[in-house]
Amino acid sequence: MDTLHLVTPAERHRKEWHDYLHEWSLTGEGMTPWALDPGNGDFDRFLQLTEQFERGIDIPEGKVPAGLFLLVDGSSDRILGAVSIRYRLSDYLFRYGGHVGYGVRPSERRKGYAKRLLSLALAICRERGIDRVLVTCDTVNVASAKTIMANGGILEDEVIHPDGSPVQRYWIDNR
Ligand SMILES: CC(C)(COP(=O)(O)OP(=O)(O)OC[C@H]1O[C@@H](n2cnc3c(N)ncnc32)[C@H](O)[C@@H]1OP(=O)(O)O)[C@@H](O)C(=O)NCCC(=O)NCCS
Repeated sequence: MDTLHLVTPAERHRKEWHDYLHEWSLTGEGMTPWALDPGNGDFDRFLQLTEQFERGIDIPEGKVPAGLFLLVDGSSDRILGAVSIRYRLSDYLFRYGGHVGYGVRPSERRKGYAKRLLSLALAICRERGIDRVLVTCDTVNVASAKTIMANGGILEDEVIHPDGSPVQRYWIDNR
């Protein structure tokens, strides 16, 4: 039986979080979602900012209230992935970023975790009353596009990010 679920980060994840960041750093990819490491490797700052974003207090200029959740299996604290759920859209998020950003641990990819993670994130969106969910991905990111489509994403359009890269925008009917 599938025992995957999303949890709020807590002190007990300290070591696992550092392990995850280390493993991710070996790929040379930027951290996705950004909110998993907003303090450049500082776990205390990560916990503090996660709570501030969740409560929508003292958040940095231009950012919106958001939740950050870890994908784990059963009672294990091993982090398999992470997702950021933006509770509303700024202009930037509407154009490029979307409601939901996620990443899967490099050694755990291609096992279906992203598809489950997005599905679990959609349930949280539903609880929050987000009944149309915008999810975006770089056009070259075939794995992410498949993840979104597997969760009901319908391609709206393709736009060019200010950095020059094409981005696909998908809407998911979450009612
Ligand atoms: C994109 C990412 C989240 C996918 O995670 P994952 O757990 O490997 O994805 P899944 O195993 O759930 O697979 C989803 C689909 O993508 C396909 N897929 C996964 N990796 C792939 C790859 N490297 N190339 C092509 N297709 C791939 C899977 O086969 C599956 O398609 P299917 O339903 O047709 O079989 C992961 O590669 C990642 O974290 N990348 C870096 C961060 C990132 O790009 N995040 C998304 C931002 S929008």
